[in-house]
Amino acid sequence: MSTKRTTPLRVAVLASGRGSNLQAIIDAIEAGQVEAKIVAVIGNKKDAVALERARKHGLPDLFVDPKPFAGRPDSREAYDRSLLDVLAKQDAELVLLAGYMRIVTGLLVNAYANRMMNIHPSLLPSFPGLEVQKKAIDWGCKLAGCTVHFVTEGVDEGPIILQAAVPILDRDTPDTLAARILEQEHKLYPRAVQLFAEGRLHVEGRRVFIDGGKTSGLALLSPS
Ligand code: GRF
Repeated sequence: MSTKRTTPLRVAVLASGRGSNLQAIIDAIEAGQVEAKIVAVIGNKKDAVALERARKHGLPDLFVDPKPFAGRPDSREAYDRSLLDVLAKQDAELVLLAGYMRIVTGLLVNAYANRMMNIHPSLLPSFPGLEVQKKAIDWGCKLAGCTVHFVTEGVDEGPIILQAAVPILDRDTPDTLAARILEQEHKLYPRAVQLFAEGRLHVEGRRVFIDGGKTSGLALLSPS
């Protein structure tokens, strides 16, 4: 499947927290490195720093409160339906999860199949979930990293687009490792968005080919 879209690509970002990946994407767009326009930054937490960052850059920000949906048997679907309304209104072509701390339902995943990305601070499929930098250190891994992948219903399970490897040093704590991984995240996510914008990603089953397989999706880094 080809992923070529309009120029600039219309991107929506879902975020729950500090929004440093959102910031990296905003910066890359403003620097002309990514041909995209952020048409909505949506948060499920009112005080998410990500929403502030959006406002600072004059981007449309929206807090969608999960509370009114709580208690309903279909609370997660109902919440995602309201997100879908916003995404449709904004004509979003690509949705980015950037520190979005909610599990998305099949409703959203199917509407944006191969058009929704997530970034995760491990070399998937190792260490899905939370506190993954600590898990990688405790396991004794020599290599950690980050992964940009398309989103499917399984958490952190979708087809892998790009990965960056980050060595684990003997002196690393979860925090120092997380900081070095984050530096790479900030390079990797904009790069994935630009590849999508240029229509250079092709998904076949679980595999994502870049430029028909001529470009590698791996960034290997030296220790620092
Ligand atoms: C990042 O480490 C990302 O990989 C993970 O959540 C964190 C979000 O950080 N999914 P930020 O909100 O983008 O600063």
